[in-house]
Amino acid sequence: MSRIFSGIQPSGELHVGNYLGAVRNWVALQQEQDCIFCVVNLHAITVPYAPDDLRRRTREMVVSLIAAGVDPEVCTLFVQSAVPEHTELNWIFNTVTPLGELERQTQFKEKASRQESVMAGLLNYPVLQAADILLYRADGVPVGEDQVQHLELSREIARRWNARFASDGEPFFPEPRALLTPTRRIMGLDGQAKMSKSMGNTIGLLEPADSVWQKLRPAMTDPARVRKTDPGTPEICNIYQLHRAFSTPDEVETVAVNCRTAGWGCIDCKKVLHESMERTLLPIRRRAEEIAATPARLDEMLAAGAERARTVAGATMVEVRDRMGIA
Ligand code: AMP
Ligand code: TRP
Repeated sequence: MSRIFSGIQPSGELHVGNYLGAVRNWVALQQEQDCIFCVVNLHAITVPYAPDDLRRRTREMVVSLIAAGVDPEVCTLFVQSAVPEHTELNWIFNTVTPLGELERQTQFKEKASRQESVMAGLLNYPVLQAADILLYRADGVPVGEDQVQHLELSREIARRWNARFASDGEPFFPEPRALLTPTRRIMGLDGQAKMSKSMGNTIGLLEPADSVWQKLRPAMTDPARVRKTDPGTPEICNIYQLHRAFSTPDEVETVAVNCRTAGWGCIDCKKVLHESMERTLLPIRRRAEEIAATPARLDEMLAAGAERARTVAGATMVEVRDRMGIA
């Protein structure tokens, strides 16, 4: 059995991109592997935020994850700040991470360009991510495609630390790999960029049916299909990508045929998509309501998750401190 770790920022909204790119895979993997999943609130403080807002968003993310099928009875689910070893290993990894590698990270450059003044924490964000993963000596990391560069850096950090402090025999830290899905990059409803909270082009996993429809109706489709009578090309249509994720194989086939022959207009196709999304989303919304109704149970689950995580994290740190002469 291999160890799996992944994290998600408490952005407040778990959206369809997160779900298809990563979280659906967490749900599948938890049955077969030793899985540890974390809501990374310490990553979220690398950009300006309001404390009460962060507290609420962290909670909402936990509720959404469990509603989406992450089962705290089967895997380990916890909030990052409940396990202080993350920040300790983060500091240690800062000492083996080349500055140039950090400055090259696409996500850093993109986020930094949107800030008036850039804090060191934003630059060091991927070092904390490497600490998250390696603290549990995880080798598989289910994420969307946008995290591949960060994982390359995690491997580099593992290699450098091993070369310096574990050059005898077995490497202490494994080199973690990204576990990608066929839906590794979901585009936003505008069809312009990946689906992302900061772009305002998302569908929330807990969004009510009518609100989902208000977003689907004007959403971008095949850019070459101008009139209803024009035959379309499903492969370049954003809505078709969502059909492949949510609709049955028979529905996907019907959609493709009707698009190519201009049998249906885009609205017809979107109506079918809306129905198939509801099949997945309605039970998730119901579960979220149930979970949110028993906050004390949620606290207990998170405390149990954090305790399990700390047991593994603590053991790693004993070894790390010893090998580095800081025990
Ligand atoms: P974040 O919301 O940035 O913390 O991302 C949480 C997880 O969702 C990460 O594994 C991301 O790679 C994944 N993810 C975020 N947006 C998308 C998207 N548009 N398509 C596929 N995966 C995504
Ligand atoms: N940076 C990741 C994101 O934005 C979140 C994250 C933090 C993460 N630590 C992690 C993902 C460890 C995987 C493993 O999506």
